[in-house]
Amino acid sequence: MKKYLLLFFVSTYVFAQNKTLEQKVDSVLALMTLEEKVGQLVQYSAGWDTGTKTREPKEGHEELIRQGKIGSFLNIIGVEQTRRLQKIAVEKSRLGIPLIFGLDVIHGYKTTFPIPLAEACSWNPDLVELSARVQAIEASAAGVNWTFSPMVDIARDPRWGRIMEGSGEDPYLGSVMAAARVKGYQGKNLKDDNTILACAKHFAGYGAVEGGKDYNTVDISERTLREIYLPPFKAAVDAGVGSLMSAFTEIGGVPSSANKLLLTQILRNEWHSDAFVLTDWNTIGEFLVHGIAHDLKEATKIAIEASIDMDMESNGYHLYLAELVKEGKVDIKYIDDAVRRILKAKFKLGLFDDPYKYCNPEREVKVTLGEDLRRAAKQVALESVVLLKNENNLLPLNENIKSIAVIGELAASKEDPLGPWAQQGIPETVVSILEGLKNKVGNRIKINYAEGCKVDSEDKSRFEEAIDAVNRSDVAIVVIGETRDMSGEAHSRATLDLPGVQEELIKEIHKTGKPVIAILMNGRPLTINWVSENIPAIIESWYLGCEHGSAIADLLFGDFVPSGKLTVTFPKGVGQIPLYYNHKNTGRPYNPENPRFTSYYIDFSLEPLYPFGYGLSYTTFEYSNLKLKTEKIKAGDFVKFSVDVTNTGKYEAKEIVQVYIRDLVASVTRPVKELKDFKKINLKPGETKTVEFELPTERLKFFDINMNYSLEPGRFKLMVGPNSKDLLETEFELIN
Ligand code: NOJ
Repeated sequence: MKKYLLLFFVSTYVFAQNKTLEQKVDSVLALMTLEEKVGQLVQYSAGWDTGTKTREPKEGHEELIRQGKIGSFLNIIGVEQTRRLQKIAVEKSRLGIPLIFGLDVIHGYKTTFPIPLAEACSWNPDLVELSARVQAIEASAAGVNWTFSPMVDIARDPRWGRIMEGSGEDPYLGSVMAAARVKGYQGKNLKDDNTILACAKHFAGYGAVEGGKDYNTVDISERTLREIYLPPFKAAVDAGVGSLMSAFTEIGGVPSSANKLLLTQILRNEWHSDAFVLTDWNTIGEFLVHGIAHDLKEATKIAIEASIDMDMESNGYHLYLAELVKEGKVDIKYIDDAVRRILKAKFKLGLFDDPYKYCNPEREVKVTLGEDLRRAAKQVALESVVLLKNENNLLPLNENIKSIAVIGELAASKEDPLGPWAQQGIPETVVSILEGLKNKVGNRIKINYAEGCKVDSEDKSRFEEAIDAVNRSDVAIVVIGETRDMSGEAHSRATLDLPGVQEELIKEIHKTGKPVIAILMNGRPLTINWVSENIPAIIESWYLGCEHGSAIADLLFGDFVPSGKLTVTFPKGVGQIPLYYNHKNTGRPYNPENPRFTSYYIDFSLEPLYPFGYGLSYTTFEYSNLKLKTEKIKAGDFVKFSVDVTNTGKYEAKEIVQVYIRDLVASVTRPVKELKDFKKINLKPGETKTVEFELPTERLKFFDINMNYSLEPGRFKLMVGPNSKDLLETEFELIN
C-alpha cells in the first residue's frame, strides 16, 4: 500500500511537469491527510551539544519525520546531517515530501561578512546584493536551503542590541537594502543549486521596542507602522521574498504572531503576497506569557487564524492543530492555505525535483571558506567603513613613519571582528587589526602592541605599558568599542558610553602628545563625545568579519579611500533617544533665539554627535548648481533635477549623493526631511560630475488623513547633499 502510494505520488509530480505551480501544489495537497498537512507547518530546531558542538535532531524527531509530522528544521549544520534527514523524509515518509532546512545566515555562513548595519553604510546595493549572493553560495553548499535573513527592522534606538542586524533608521535606504539582500540570496532562479530562500524579519515593528529593551512592548501608530517600519518588508515582498518571520513583540496589545492587521490584511490582502510566514522562536507559546491565551491550544487557534503558516518550536501546531480541526474549532481552509504556501516554496526551491540539491559533500568542501569568498568579504568590508573625523589629514598614514603603537584588546582580537550572529564563523579565519597592520607593513614599520585594558574591565594596571608603547612610536592606533557579545539579540544597553576604562585609556594616550587614531569596533552608535572632540582621527569600523584587519590596514594607508556613510544617527547622550533625522517639525520647533516654550532640553544639546548620512573621505567634495528641469511636476511624472559634485581634494574617491524632500503642507504632518534617492559616484581629483536624478512622484506618496496611500499636490522642498545636514535646497510643486 505504502509503495503504491509513493509511486502514485511520484508519478503525480512527474506527470505534473506541465502543470502550473498552483496545480502541482494542489495535486500534492489532495494526497495529504490532515496530520500530514499539519506536519508541513511544523518546524523544530536541532538539539545543541555545546561540548561536542554537534547538532542532532532531538529525541523522537526522526520518527516524526517518518510519520510526515515535520516539515522543516532549523539549526541543522552541514551536508551529511542534512542529507541523512532529507533521506528519511523523502524515502521513509508516506508521501516523501522534502524537508526545508533553515539557518540564520545573517552575515555569512563560515566566511564572515560585515554585520548588516555596516554593509548598509556602504550605500551600495549592488555590493550588498553581492554579499548576500556569496553567502548563499557558501551556505547552499553546506546544506542550507533557507536563511532567516534579511532582518529589515528599522531601528531608531541604538540601545537596542539588534540595531546591528538591520540597515539602520531610514525606511527608504532600508527598503533598497532589503530588496538587494533578497535578490542576492534568492538569485535569478531559486531552482539553481546555489540559491536559498530568503526570510524578511521580524514582521513587524520589532525595532520600536520601548526603551530599546529587547522583546519589550511596541506601541506605535498605524501611520508610523506603515510609513517607517513596513516599507522594507514591502520592498522585500516586491523583490519576491519567499518567506517572512513574525516578531516576538506586540503592537498596541496584539502580538505579531496573532496580528491579523499585519498578517492577513496587509501581507495577504494589500500586498498580495503568497510568501509563507514562520513564527519566531516559540512566539505562539509566548501568547500565554503575553496573556492573550489560556493555554497552548487556544494560542494555536489564534496563530493559524491570523495566517501564521509555520510554527517554530512552540509545539502548538504539532500538538493541537489537527485536534482543533477535528473538533470543528478551526476551519481546514486555514491549514490548506498554509500548506499551499509552504509547498509552493519547496517547489520553487526545486526540492521536489531534487531533494538532495543542497547535499553534495564535494561541493561543500570545495566551496566552504574559498579564497574567492574572502575576496568578496574584503571588498564589502572596505566600503562598509565610515570615516568620522580626520583633522589635518592625519589619515592616510604616511608611509615614512617608522613605528606605530597599536593599543586595545579589540585590536588583537580575532573573535570580535566576527560580530554577533556570526553563524559558523571561525576566529582563526579572521585577520585582526593587529595582524592586518603587520601584514601590510612587514619589516618597514615597527608595530608596538599593548592591550592597555580589557574592553569591559575596571583594571587600569596595564595603562603604563600602553603609554610606553605609544611613547616609543610615531603614531598611536587605539581600537575601542564593544566586544561582539555586547550587541545582538538580548543584548540591549542602557548606556552608550565606551564600556570599562577605555575612555580613560585613550585620554591617557592623548596626553602623550602623539597623533592618535581611534578605531571603533562596535555594533551600535556610541556616545563617544570626548573622543569625538579630542582625538584627531576616528574610524567607525563596526564588525567587518574575516577581513576586518586587512580592510582596515588598506584604509589606514590610503590603498582604499573610505566612502561609507552612517545609516543611523549617533546621539550625544542617551537622554536624546529616540534621535533620528526624519523627525516631525512639531508645532513648537526649537527656537535658539528664544527657546522658552519651544521643543528642547534645558540641560542638553539637541544636536546629534554625527547625523544620519554622515561620513568623510580622504578627499573633499563640493556641491553646487542644484537645478530642477521643471518646477511644476505632474503626478505620475518624475521630478528631474541635477547637481554638480566636484572632487576638490587629492584622492580619487567615491561620494554618496543624497536626496531628501520635505512635503511643506499636507493633510497630515510630514517629516522635516525624508531620504528619497541616492547615488554613489566616483570622482577623480579635480573632476566635476553633473549627477542627474529622476525621482518618480510615486515616492512622494504617504498615508493621508484617511490612511489612503496617496499623492497630495502642493509645494515640496528638495534637498541634495553629502549628508542629512549639509544640504543645498530648492522647491518644486506637484500638480494634478
Ligand atoms: C530568534 C531570533 O529573533 C530570530 O531572528 C532567529 O531567526 C531565530 N531565533 C532562529 O534562530
